[in-house]
Amino acid sequence: MSIMPNYTQLPVTFVKGEGAWLWDTQGKRYLDALSGIAVCGLGHSHPAVTSAICEQAGKLLHTSNIYNIFNQQELAEALIQITNMERAFFCNSGAEANEAALKIARLYGHQQGYEQPTIIVTQGSFHGRTLATLSATGNPKIQQGFAPLLEGFIRVPYNDVEAIAKIPKSQIVAVLVEPVIGEGGISIPDTDYLVKLRNLCDANNWLLMLDEIQTGMGRTGKWCAFQYTDILPDVITLAKGLGNGVPIGACLTRGKVADILQPGTHGSTFGGNPLACKAALTVINTIKQDNLLSRVQELSERFHQGFTQALKGVARVKEIRVKGLMIGIELVEPCGQLVAKALERNLLINVTAERVIRLLPPFILTNEQADEIIATVSDLVQKKQG
Ligand SMILES: Cc1ncc(COP(=O)(O)O)c(C=O)c1O
Repeated sequence: MSIMPNYTQLPVTFVKGEGAWLWDTQGKRYLDALSGIAVCGLGHSHPAVTSAICEQAGKLLHTSNIYNIFNQQELAEALIQITNMERAFFCNSGAEANEAALKIARLYGHQQGYEQPTIIVTQGSFHGRTLATLSATGNPKIQQGFAPLLEGFIRVPYNDVEAIAKIPKSQIVAVLVEPVIGEGGISIPDTDYLVKLRNLCDANNWLLMLDEIQTGMGRTGKWCAFQYTDILPDVITLAKGLGNGVPIGACLTRGKVADILQPGTHGSTFGGNPLACKAALTVINTIKQDNLLSRVQELSERFHQGFTQALKGVARVKEIRVKGLMIGIELVEPCGQLVAKALERNLLINVTAERVIRLLPPFILTNEQADEIIATVSDLVQKKQG
């Protein structure tokens, strides 16, 4: 009772993890189809990550960003290599990465002479819980009680470029979108959405800023979801899967805003410390060495086919949406109770946007584990009382 009651928690405490398995205090084993909400892509206690952070902890945990941090430079270069961006700023979470992006957009706007730089954001989006990122978030329910929210955002429907084209142009400096909406219910936009946004941004000298916090670091089967197109954004934000559980976020920039954060404009005490950077470097190397991007694509296909087959003709199912290992099964009714029912069957799943079963399994899943998830979830959906 000493913890603030801001989370609705399930009655289970995990004490150990290995790969896609978790064990609770009673020794009961669970299959994790959520990866700590898109964080542990390499699974739990991955040997490479464990040994890298143990080794780093034995050498040096933290100094300060007022000195060079060796692992940080190496991580920035690794991220630039896989994304084609140019610069990296490191922080500790997704919300902080987006805060950096929002500040970059405002600085850019002021450089253009705008006094009220305005950022276009979308309905149904989730960008974090700090005041600025909450203001950017397109979910009135979680904004409730926190007025006055931050000014400087215009909200448009997701996957609708025409709606943006109709907005009066003055003071707009950037567009911030998720390439696939995660918390808002696994919404996958048209394949040309980002391309059209890029064109619109180019035509108006706006920044295209992509929140890849949930979609990034291999989750969709590419390093970043925008890599399904041939565009490059101006700003990308990453967190979640970047450290496989060690808190780290990043804001990547290129082109006209590559060097916009000059000394004194932004910072973070812990951001990009040697431990977090070592973890993230190990994540990148492991994804490369173990060819996990193609494994994500393979597993994605297995889930898509498996669920399509198993749930064919089930009246309760409205739509199955799959991008890499972001899996959403939208039902025609609220289904939050399925989370506890799955837990009773030793499976960890999530329900978001009230009626969307969301699965974000680790990339190291075996085919048997994938099939077990498909079978259990499909069975729960088919049961009338679910
Ligand atoms: C797309 C997206 N942006 C931002 C965030 C916020 O990240 P964090 O909880 O690390 O602050 C999340 C978290 O769910 C997210 O999914």
